[in-house]
Amino acid sequence: MSKPRTTVLKIGGSVITDKHGELKAQMQVINRLADEIRKVDIQNLIIVHGGGSFGHPPAEKYRIKEGFKKDSQRVGFSETHHVMTVLNGLFMDALIWRSIPAVSVTSSSCIMTKNGRIQRFEDAPLKALLEMGFIPVLYGDAVLDTELGFTILSGDQIVSTLATRFNAERIIIGVDVDGLYDADPKVKKSARIFEHLTLKELKSLHSKLHKPTSHDVTGGMFGKIDELIPAIKQGIPTIIVNATKPNYIYKALKGEKVRGTLIERE
Ligand code: IPE
Repeated sequence: MSKPRTTVLKIGGSVITDKHGELKAQMQVINRLADEIRKVDIQNLIIVHGGGSFGHPPAEKYRIKEGFKKDSQRVGFSETHHVMTVLNGLFMDALIWRSIPAVSVTSSSCIMTKNGRIQRFEDAPLKALLEMGFIPVLYGDAVLDTELGFTILSGDQIVSTLATRFNAERIIIGVDVDGLYDADPKVKKSARIFEHLTLKELKSLHSKLHKPTSHDVTGGMFGKIDELIPAIKQGIPTIIVNATKPNYIYKALKGEKVRGTLIERE
């Protein structure tokens, strides 16, 4: 029997950290997600997680995304990358202690960008890990950039690149809301969720999507969806689900129906 095609799962930083604090991990959520991932026992899975209250505050403080402009930023780059490895360590702990064969793949060691866009991606180790039945785990990171010196690479750009390169079967994006709404559900109670969108519908909706929150250097929900467009264009269905709600990620990974927004090419 041939192996199933790859699933790329993104867990947003706002899910696994408390975005209102600094360096505040949501260990209960991380542990529950690890339980759900273990329960599905899925093959050919790549996980990417975001930065939340770990990566975003130092990235913002030292203006890492804008590139290298002064010496004092250097330690900011180190700090941003370091706190991401700390968050990744907590996530890896939860997975590995549940006997999930997950292996951390440091994004900044295998990816370089050019003006913020992925230019080089040494993916041979990652492919070999998948072949051997491991679950590679990457994360949004401070990365080196051939034009800017360095910048911030979002987990979403990594997701889109991996999905298109590996011709993934699907992308699952776990966020802290139920999907894409016609208004910010945290502000407007009557906001309506879009259960299904085509690429064309998505594009016409762009201006209505949420604006980034204050500590998000990579563009919030709006930036996320933008990044996923190349993968959706390639025909990879993408579902946005609420990963803060128990069993949503489990159901999405299982391929069961779950509340969320499904975006397809047509
Ligand atoms: C951001 O990654 C990484 C850093 C700020 C270093 P993401 O953009 O994927 O993170 P979230 O999901 O928005 O928190």
